Amino acid sequence: MAWDREFLYDTYPRIEEAFSARLDESLAPRDPSVLLQVVRELGLRPDSRVVDVGCGEGTYAFRLATHFGLRVLGIDPVQRHLDLAREVRRDVVPEIASRVSFERGSATRVPTADASIDLVWCRDVMVHVAHPEDAYAEFARVLRPGGHVVGYQVVATDLLPREEADWLFAVMGVVPDSADPAVLDRAIAVSGLEVVDTIDLASEWGEWSEEQEGRASRALLHLARLLREPERYRAEFGDEAYDVMLGDCRWHVHRMEGKLAGRIDVLRRPGGG
Ligand SMILES: C[S@@+](CC[C@H](N)C(=O)[O-])C[C@H]1O[C@@H](n2cnc3c(N)ncnc32)[C@H](O)[C@@H]1O
Repeated sequence: MAWDREFLYDTYPRIEEAFSARLDESLAPRDPSVLLQVVRELGLRPDSRVVDVGCGEGTYAFRLATHFGLRVLGIDPVQRHLDLAREVRRDVVPEIASRVSFERGSATRVPTADASIDLVWCRDVMVHVAHPEDAYAEFARVLRPGGHVVGYQVVATDLLPREEADWLFAVMGVVPDSADPAVLDRAIAVSGLEVVDTIDLASEWGEWSEEQEGRASRALLHLARLLREPERYRAEFGDEAYDVMLGDCRWHVHRMEGKLAGRIDVLRRPGGG
C-alpha cells in the first residue's frame, strides 16, 4: 500500500491514542495450564499410568501426580535432568513421591512394555527429536488401545525466513524438519494414532508471559545489548554461551512476532472402547 501524507500526518494521529489504548487491552491469551486442562478433560482415573517424555527436571511429572493422582514415569536422555528430578522427589511428600519415578529414556526409546500406558505427555521436546515418525510410532507402541498423547511444541511458521531459521535451529538444537508442521502431521498420520484435536496457540503463551512478567520485552532488551556489545559478553561467558543466549532471546521475540507458534496435539491410539 502506497503511503499517503494526509493519512500519516493528519488522519492517523487523530486515532493513534485510541488505537494504542485498545492494544493495551489483553486478548486474554491462554496460558500453559491449558495443557493440564486438556488432561483433565480426558477424565483419567487416579493411578492411571503416564510417561512424561523429555521430563527435564520433572516439573510436570510432579504436577500430573499432584493434580490428578496419576502414576508418572519421567524419562529424559540427560543425566543431569534425572539427577535434579530425583533430588526434588526426595523432598516431596511421600504420597506424591510414591507416584513418580525417573529413568533414562528418549522419545524413540520409552522403557515400558507394549500397551501399558494410559497417557504419553510430551511437552516442548519434539523439536529435538531427529525422526518424529519414530517417536510417534513408539508412543503408539506403549499406549494401551484408547490411550492418549498430549503433546506441546513450538513450530516454525511461514513468517520465519530460511536464513534466520538455519541459524536459530542450529544454535538451539532444533531439528528443522521437526519444527515443520507438515512433517509432524505426516509423522502422526503414519503412526496410526488418531488426531483428537490440534490446538494452534500462535503467540498466546508468549503474550501471557509478557503480560505476567514482561518475558518478551526483557528478551528484546537483552537482544539489543547482546547485539550492540557482543565482545563484552563473549569475553565474560564464551562464544558458545553468547550464541545460546542470543538464540534464546530471539526465540522469545520470534514467538511474539508469529515466526514461531505454539501447538498442542491431542492424539489417541484407536480401540479400547
Ligand atoms: C525444553 S526442555 C522441556 C522439559 C519439560 N518437558 C518441560 O516442559 O518443562 C526439553 C527436554 O527434552 C529433552 N530431550 C532432548 N532430546 C530428547 C529426546 N530425543 N527424547 C526425549 N527427550 C529429549 C531434554 O533433555 C530436555 O529435558
